[in-house]
Amino acid sequence: MSSTTSVNPMIVEALINLKGGVGKTTTTINLAFELARMGKRVLIGDFDTQENATDYLFGADCHFPLTLYNFMADPRNVALRDIIQPYAGPNAKRTSLQVSGCIDVLPGDAGLGFVAEEFYRNRVGQPIEFVHHSVRYGIEQIRGLYDIFLADPGPSWNAVTDAIVHAISGVVVPFTPEPMVFNSMKHLLKAISSSNARTFRQDHQTMIHGIVYTKCVSAGQRKIAGGLKSAFLQELHIQSFTPIFNFTDVLMNLVPARLPLGAYLTEHPEVIKPKASSNDMIGTFYQSDADDCKRFAEEFLQVTQGH
Ligand SMILES: Nc1ncnc2c1ncn2[C@@H]1O[C@H](COP(=O)(O)OP(=O)(O)OP(=O)(O)O)[C@@H](O)[C@H]1O
Ligand SMILES: [Mg+2]
Repeated sequence: MSSTTSVNPMIVEALINLKGGVGKTTTTINLAFELARMGKRVLIGDFDTQENATDYLFGADCHFPLTLYNFMADPRNVALRDIIQPYAGPNAKRTSLQVSGCIDVLPGDAGLGFVAEEFYRNRVGQPIEFVHHSVRYGIEQIRGLYDIFLADPGPSWNAVTDAIVHAISGVVVPFTPEPMVFNSMKHLLKAISSSNARTFRQDHQTMIHGIVYTKCVSAGQRKIAGGLKSAFLQELHIQSFTPIFNFTDVLMNLVPARLPLGAYLTEHPEVIKPKASSNDMIGTFYQSDADDCKRFAEEFLQVTQGH
């Protein structure tokens, strides 16, 4: 056995699908929570102009003076660490959610849609030449502070997605088994391979670490998920995570409380309890999802560690 002590490098990953509404943000938040519960220090980057992760975790009325827009538009004058907001963990003020690690957030901003324009306007004197280098540049500033960085982009491919894919080691694709999502998967594979083929990417290739099935309502969708695994994915050497996330009504109770699914089990005081009449149904939905979240986080660590 080697006598050298090695520090695990930060896992830098994004949950991407070029189809909207498949559960990217929901899966990111729940994954972050499970990882933080396992003692990991997690940083979520909300790269979406819709700011869904930020709104979910801090409330829609929350306003932050600095966001990812400010960093990406002018990395010379705004450091990534200056925009970090604690959600849960030792320094958190906004929630009493108990985790042994932490969840911190880089807030999103509607202005992210104009970030390239603004970056090139501010170009003179910047430490990087192109906006697609910005996320990687920012991550270098926070290495050592976190175990895991999870990027949550919007559903379209743009300058921001491009900068994320340039910075990450791997992608997890949240995938709702329905026809339109197959097309978006093809587009995503093409976009990632084009990104990897760029000359400045010779030293660093981004891989697809796996797909995770989300929002499965019916037995039919689960069947599609099984078929997909054997045909489409095996050919592409893409693995799928074991848990399949059902469509779960419990989210309706958790969104106003700004909590992840897993908090529901812990009798958290902020969780709005379901009405007694619907308790059984919601309880059943939840039980499977809580275990699935935990299993997904464990598999995520296995798959991503070492990349
Ligand atoms: N497992 C689930 N069960 C029920 N509803 C879900 C589940 N996962 C996500 N949702 C709901 O589906 C909607 C879309 O989810 P979410 O915002 O996470 O998707 P997204 O892929 O991030 O969307 P966008 O492409 O707009 O960023 C939300 O209303 C969310 O509450
Ligand atoms: Mg989203």
